[in-house]
Amino acid sequence: MIITPRVRGFICLTAHPEGCEQNVVNQINYVKSKGTVEGPKKVLVLGASTGFGLASRITSAFGANAATIGVYFEKPSAEGKPGSPGWYNTAAFEKHAHAAGLYAKSINGDAFSDEIKQKTLDLIKADLGQVDLVIYSLASPRRVHPKTGVVHNSVLKPIGQTFSNKTVDFHTGNVTEVSITPASEEDIDNTVAVMGGEDWAMWIDALKAADLLAPGATTVAYSYIGPALTEAVYRKGTIGRAKDHLEATAFSITDTLKDLNGKAYVSVNKALVTQASSAIPVIPLYISLLYKVMKAKGIHEGTIEQIQRLFQERLYTGGEVALDENGRIRIDDLEMREDVQAEVAALWAQATTETLPEIGDLPGYKTDFFHLFGFEVEGIDYEKDVNEVVEVPGLV
Ligand code: NAD
Ligand code: NA
Repeated sequence: MIITPRVRGFICLTAHPEGCEQNVVNQINYVKSKGTVEGPKKVLVLGASTGFGLASRITSAFGANAATIGVYFEKPSAEGKPGSPGWYNTAAFEKHAHAAGLYAKSINGDAFSDEIKQKTLDLIKADLGQVDLVIYSLASPRRVHPKTGVVHNSVLKPIGQTFSNKTVDFHTGNVTEVSITPASEEDIDNTVAVMGGEDWAMWIDALKAADLLAPGATTVAYSYIGPALTEAVYRKGTIGRAKDHLEATAFSITDTLKDLNGKAYVSVNKALVTQASSAIPVIPLYISLLYKVMKAKGIHEGTIEQIQRLFQERLYTGGEVALDENGRIRIDDLEMREDVQAEVAALWAQATTETLPEIGDLPGYKTDFFHLFGFEVEGIDYEKDVNEVVEVPGLV
């Protein structure tokens, strides 16, 4: 079929298999261009199909020659119905990994559930024996708690008081004022239940109990801090509470891994356009200004540049892993540079519907958004009839 974007707000209902494959190939080529990382050998990636998780899987495989198992929650493709981007991304990744002689298999289902955990444990036991790196990169609006059956929905709200600031509709470029009312205690608890560290710890406990973690095993989860501009709705809001919990969980997991000489890290990553971040109010305006400033300075990075650098210059240097005063890896160093933040703050003050085309990188934001779904990718003929039904070769 001929597949065109069908956008509804911050989501796109369609995805293009060839565009998604080209994105994956571009990421593979980038990782290869940076040379070998003396990295992990057997890797489990939770949230492996898009964003930072996909980049982690690609970097493990094509940077370190690692065997990878990916877990994700994606919509398969069917006749007349394109699959979700993560479905096509994984199909492409596994095709190219297998062609390169690399082990790559995947499991599609709810990673929060006991069932998918057990299925993953069985696969590791049968095929890999043990893993030496576990990447935790789930981003979900909802979690069914495996022990209580309670459905937790995460919210993106400030805590304590109403937050009012500018926001942009990235499709139209309209800059408006948004007001978000504060979260209730229940909202906070639910957001922590979805995006905090409980599920990460459950995964590590289950892997350890089944003796599936190699000596010296490492696990990494991803966090975000960001600037004062977005603090009320991000780091000091409900999602920030969840990230505080995730970061604290790294320390308790490290305790769990002591006898294996293993370690849990949180890496603080840069703000980027992903399916998760385009849903957060205020963030798209911030990102469009940030992109403009970072591109002008020649220091812009996407997910693959971020994760390749995380592996090569932080996790697998052969020496100590550099941490901040709170024990976190910082790969958001370029975003948080003083000159970058000062310029973004100055632009923020000037941002209106009229000025944004000049001072912001909305085209860059939009291109990245469409890229997530395999659209507007260079070299792809979107007039062409493509086969929308694509198999994921390593799907278990
Ligand atoms: P993403 O939406 O691109 O990826 C989410 C992944 O989780 C996908 O692979 C999806 O299939 C999977 N997933 C979601 N629910 C699932 C479920 N129930 N079971 C199994 N898999 C499930 O998101 P992302 O932006 O790459 O986010 C990954 C992590 O990085 C998050 O912790 C996020 O907070 C963090 N982070 C994001 C940014 C950013 O700007 N995007 C910045 C810093 C940190
Ligand atoms: Na991810």
